This record gives sequence, C-alpha cells and structure tokens, in this order.
Amino acid sequence: MEVVIVPDSAAGGELIAEAMADLLRRKPDALLGVATGSTPLPVYQALAAKVRAGQVDASGARVCQLDEYVGLPAGHPESYRSVVLREVVEPLGLDREAFMGPDGTAEDVPAACRTYDRALAEAGGVDLQLLGIGTDGHIGFNEPCSSLASRTRIKTLTEQTRVDNARFFDGDIEQVPHHVITQGIGTILEARHLVLLATGEAKADAVALAVEGPLSALVPASALQLHPHATVVVDEAAASRLKLGDYFRATYAAKPQWQGL
Ligand code: GLP
Repeated sequence: MEVVIVPDSAAGGELIAEAMADLLRRKPDALLGVATGSTPLPVYQALAAKVRAGQVDASGARVCQLDEYVGLPAGHPESYRSVVLREVVEPLGLDREAFMGPDGTAEDVPAACRTYDRALAEAGGVDLQLLGIGTDGHIGFNEPCSSLASRTRIKTLTEQTRVDNARFFDGDIEQVPHHVITQGIGTILEARHLVLLATGEAKADAVALAVEGPLSALVPASALQLHPHATVVVDEAAASRLKLGDYFRATYAAKPQWQGL
C-alpha cells in the first residue's frame, strides 16, 4: 500500500484527478468507480476542470456507483444515484448511458445486488475505484464485521453512520435510511486500482487502523492491505496518528516521477 500525505484536501483532489486523467489518456473508456460523501468532491471538481481546460478527453469514460440507500424514491436529491449524476456525470459532460449503479428502489433487493455485481464484471471490471472512509472504518457501506469476501448486498447502517450522514438529510437522523446496497469488500478488491482519500482529524483513527492496524473485518478499510495496487491519500490531519508518517513522506518525496500513483 502506498500512503501519500498531502497538505490539504484540494491537493489530494488534484493528485487523484490527475491519476484519473492519466488513466483516461491510456484507456479512454476506463470504468471509474466513484464514492459519495464530502471527501471526494475536490477530486470531481479537479477532474471536471481538467476536462474544461482540454487537458483530458473524458467523453469515453464510464462511471459506476459504489453504494446506494435502499428505499429513497428515485430522484431523491440525496440518493447516491442523484449525487453521482450531479457531482460527477454532469460536470464531466457524460451521458447517462455512461453511468451504472445499483437499484435502491428495487422490490427484490437481493436480485438487484446480484444484477449489479454481475454488471460490473460484464463491463470489464472497475479500473480505478475511489473510496472514502467512514469514522468507523467502513468503505462503501461495508460496516464493521462485513465479510472481507463479501459481494454486493444489502447492509444495515450503524447508528454512528446514520448520525454522520444526517447532515445530508437536514440534520434529521430519522430521514437517514437504515438499509443500503453496497459493493462488497470482495467486489471492491476486484478493481484494478484502489484509491482511498481521507481528510480531517475525524478520520485519523480510522486511517491509522486501516493502514497500520491488523487486517480485520472490524475495520473494513484494512482490506486494502490485501490489494496489490492500493493508494491512500491523506491530508496532514487525517495522517496525524500514523506511526510511519515520516517514512511515507520520505518515500513519496523520493518517488520516481514516471511511476504515477
Ligand atoms: C458514506 C459513504 C462512504 C463514504 C463515507 C464518508 O458512508 N457510503 O462511501 O466514504 O460516507 O463520507 P465523508 O467523505 O463525507 O466523510
């Protein structure tokens, strides 16, 4: 796992957007796995700016969702489908056909989960999966004690995650659904490159456990330790509990430019 410590979230956004742009220059129809939450927004803004500036052609890009609430009406502004369309698909100027996500309104949720898992494989797999991290160490909506081999399935949110996400629902936890569909940890690990972005002091414990703690279902993000190409980008605050911070800084400073992320 590579850990890159950046000064702030804008620098993290720029670094990851450049990695995505590089990927699209090599593979114009790359499948980009995108995450929701506040953390990845600087990535999407930086990538859209590169497209507008003509630094990369994203017209062939495909975008797929990581997770979704169950039961929010189609078109609800906080459904992750709406968020990804608004924050990623539209700013990049992509058609809706370039976008894939699980159906959180399906009557048969397990069937919708299987369908999505299969659709990802049939699309050739995810080239780069961007991830955030929950304060409890979750990735996607794989809450603590999710199987490290799990596939896309329904999960129940912890109280902590519902409290954390209430800010998107007028601060009202009652509006935050209890159930979600999420790519499983096994599904996420099939992406060719995993990039986790974490910013802010509130993520420092989860980051330290994920990067330096034991591999454990209790900290789902620790599953990145199993992946042959995982990059963790953190700002100084999120890096503040890492024991190997100085080593990570020195390694990145000495990294040959041609290597990219
Ligand atoms: C939600 C999403 C995760 C995201 C997490 C952190 O739970 N399902 O994919 O990583 O929130 O969000 P934020 O970046 O806003 O802290």
